[in-house]
Amino acid sequence: MYKIVAKRVVAPNIYLMDVEAPRVAKSSYPGQFVIVKMDEKGERIPLTICDIDKERGTITIVFQTMGASTKRMAEYEAGDCFADFVGPLGQPSELVHEDIEELKKKKIIFVAGGVGAAPVYPQVKWLHEHGVQADVIVGCKSKDMLILEDEMKAVAGNLFVATDDGSYGYKGFVTDLLKEKVEDEKMGYDLVIAIGPMIMMKFVAKYTKEQGIQTIVSLNPIMVDGTGMCGACRVTIGDEVKFACVDGPEFDGHLVDFDESMRRQTLYKTEEGKKLLEFEEGDTHHHGGCGCGGDK
Ligand SMILES: Cc1cc2nc3c(=O)[nH]c(=O)nc-3n(C[C@H](O)[C@H](O)[C@H](O)COP(=O)(O)OP(=O)(O)OC[C@H]3O[C@@H](n4cnc5c(N)ncnc54)[C@H](O)[C@@H]3O)c2cc1C
Ligand code: FES
Repeated sequence: MYKIVAKRVVAPNIYLMDVEAPRVAKSSYPGQFVIVKMDEKGERIPLTICDIDKERGTITIVFQTMGASTKRMAEYEAGDCFADFVGPLGQPSELVHEDIEELKKKKIIFVAGGVGAAPVYPQVKWLHEHGVQADVIVGCKSKDMLILEDEMKAVAGNLFVATDDGSYGYKGFVTDLLKEKVEDEKMGYDLVIAIGPMIMMKFVAKYTKEQGIQTIVSLNPIMVDGTGMCGACRVTIGDEVKFACVDGPEFDGHLVDFDESMRRQTLYKTEEGKKLLEFEEGDTHHHGGCGCGGDK
């Protein structure tokens, strides 16, 4: 069992929890995720690792209530336990493998949409701890939906906030603010890392491709087993089929087929849609036709 040692509401319908999971904490890196199960029969919920405390043996998760499972999860309090907390899953961010001196020469900017600030935070914190300054743009609907502002300010070079309604910071989308910062010659960014809704990442990548700026995105397709067997999280990167849970979740944003990913996301919600995908994708639908039954 995995005990929740702290819980707080960070914005309307967005919750932060510190969970006791020493083995996960020991081997986790920024960019990876966990799959949480509330009880034996509960759905598997993939959530990005938002912070790691190796000494306390805790992992921080930040989640927004979307449907039944996340709403149930929000009712859990400090002292309650999750039945399962599997991780770390996926590949760590590419940044943790790069030469620190080379990273210091780069001008990096993160673009986070909504709860995407949660997966951005551990990467910016890791860079800060290694002496690398990175700027951050966080976008949300309104001021009350902004999360982790103080935490982000403590580790980011510059923190720029955009709200859709103009209630705080720049009025408009993160993509517009990114354009403004890129066009400001003093900024001279040469690496963009975008994490948020698929549509946001699509438009960030489209713009940075035109500008010739290297871009990494973190994909969040439907995931079921998280081990590369069920095929739920299949994505097309360039001319290759990849599985976000084992090959990602981070990929070269200029190579991602976002339209296909968004279509799969919609189709995967119904049995009929899943059958259509199976028909269209053949063997690769289940990663080589493993017959595991996908989401069963
Ligand atoms: C690698 C990864 C990291 C993620 N990190 C975070 C995070 O840090 N914070 C956060 O709030 N959310 C995160 N998500 C999304 C989160 O997993 C879903 O919001 C959650 O599973 C919704 O479950 P539900 O039953 O409450 O909602 P449902 O009503 O079942 O679904 C609502 C929507 O959530 C998405 N979703 C549902 N099930 C899954 C699933 N198994 N895998 C992926 N997406 C799903 C779909 O878009 C769906 O339309 C992440 C997803 C992935 C794949
Ligand atoms: S969740 Fe990635 S293959 Fe099943």
